[in-house]
Amino acid sequence: MKKNKGKELGIVEMKNFLSYDEKIEEKTNGFNKIMTIYEMAIQELETKINILQKEYKVFYNYDLIDHVNTRIKQPESILNKMKKKGCELTYKEMIENINDIAGIRVICQLKDDIFEIRNLIEKIPGITIETEKDYVNHPKESGYSSYHMIVEVPVTLSKQTIYVKVEIQIRTLAMDFWASLEHKMKYKSDKEISKKKSKELVNYAKIVNNLDNKIMLMNN
Ligand code: GTP
Ligand code: MG
Repeated sequence: MKKNKGKELGIVEMKNFLSYDEKIEEKTNGFNKIMTIYEMAIQELETKINILQKEYKVFYNYDLIDHVNTRIKQPESILNKMKKKGCELTYKEMIENINDIAGIRVICQLKDDIFEIRNLIEKIPGITIETEKDYVNHPKESGYSSYHMIVEVPVTLSKQTIYVKVEIQIRTLAMDFWASLEHKMKYKSDKEISKKKSKELVNYAKIVNNLDNKIMLMNN
């Protein structure tokens, strides 16, 4: 959450209902209030994306968006990430430094559609893009591929509008399949995975990319 360009509204006004410089305490009123604001931001954005999905389906007979997933980051993961980044454990540092507390994943069928969806999101009134990462044209070393955006979503309350950061990941079904598999192998198991398996995963990512390209061509 942060101050939006030229607008007097933003995190400053959150002081009305929480002590911004205070140390984070999970499961307290203050913490729950902030998480509620992030939930509201997800609700706002998810609704807008669902409307686009429906529009394409009903008016253009086209499944631009296969499905949408949302999640709020667990308190424990937030704190772990802050410690890793060397942040002070205050609400202020959390809001300013952790960009993926609210997350939306948009899954589509065709690689091309990722950029169509990205452009549609850019055009949603009130939504501003803060940063973007194109791991579709520039996959990570791990093989990971997706389009990432950090956007600011205005949440209008009775006395103020708060601009809330939301992380959007846009990817194909095939990319999503790979990412879930890799995530399970890498992050969920206690042991570190072997070099051999990492290499194998990079290979599978290439196969997935090939598949996405072939399906895209077939559809053109
Ligand atoms: P974090 O990774 O969230 O600390 O931030 P970052 O600034 O490095 O952002 P980046 O856009 O690179 O990644 C953000 C998110 O993308 C992660 O939280 C994951 O959900 C996803 N992601 C990034 N890299 C990988 C990867 O190699 N494998 C998988 N499965 N997911 C990844
Ligand atoms: Mg993350």
